[in-house]
Amino acid sequence: MKGVIVAGGSGTRLRPLTDLVNKHLLPVGGYPMIHYALAKMAEAGIREVLLITGKASAGLFTQYIGSGEPWEIQVTYRIQERPGGIAEAVSLAEGFIRPGDKFVVLLGDNLFEDSLAAAVSEFQEQPTGARVFLKEVPDPRRYGVPVLRDGRIVSIEEKPENPPSTYCVTGIYMYDAGVFGEIRQVTRSARGELEITDVNNRYAAAGLLQYGMLEGWWADAGTPRSLLEAGLRLMKGES
Ligand code: TTP
Repeated sequence: MKGVIVAGGSGTRLRPLTDLVNKHLLPVGGYPMIHYALAKMAEAGIREVLLITGKASAGLFTQYIGSGEPWEIQVTYRIQERPGGIAEAVSLAEGFIRPGDKFVVLLGDNLFEDSLAAAVSEFQEQPTGARVFLKEVPDPRRYGVPVLRDGRIVSIEEKPENPPSTYCVTGIYMYDAGVFGEIRQVTRSARGELEITDVNNRYAAAGLLQYGMLEGWWADAGTPRSLLEAGLRLMKGES
């Protein structure tokens, strides 16, 4: 199975750090953030990865990652001209993913403890559809929250005032190649983005959205505080 790491975006919540450099190159624990997504792909047995980022720091990504040799991954790159949403970034993987293939998508700012190795094997066996990974969180209102029924996701509500569950949808996704057709069906949101939640909701409506649970810690390192907390967690793991 192939992997796609999404590492563009604007990083507005991390300004002014991100005035200088793309969020995924900021230090967290002992490494630039992007290291961890590559390490997670390698740990899951994924050997071919497409990295999608913006123009501004593209040279620094290639300088740090090169061909991907240190992670024993073959890395190729694609540029997202401007931040137009996570689903738009994923759409750039069409061509890298062959029809009939399945793949893993990681948002580069999602840091987590669990290995994806078992989930990758399981998804390989799943004939079609998509799978997202959930984490129980103290305040689901800040996230996409799944409506769960009979072991299935029936829909995902984005930043709901009254959360339908105590889980959030993390930035770890698995898709069949049908996702590119689904993305084409989605229209831009009020903020002008192609939203990954809209894509996932299309799978959910078709009864094709499965889920896994993260057992270990998980952080979306998109704010100064969460970046610091994730760094401390990672340092603990190393000591
Ligand atoms: P977000 O954290 O939703 O957006 P952002 O990174 O632009 O940050 P902020 O909200 O503070 O402005 O993005 C989640 C992940 O998806 C992150 O790893 C960056 C990536 N991303 C892209 O690669 N392209 C995009 O167009 C967007 C919006 C996000």
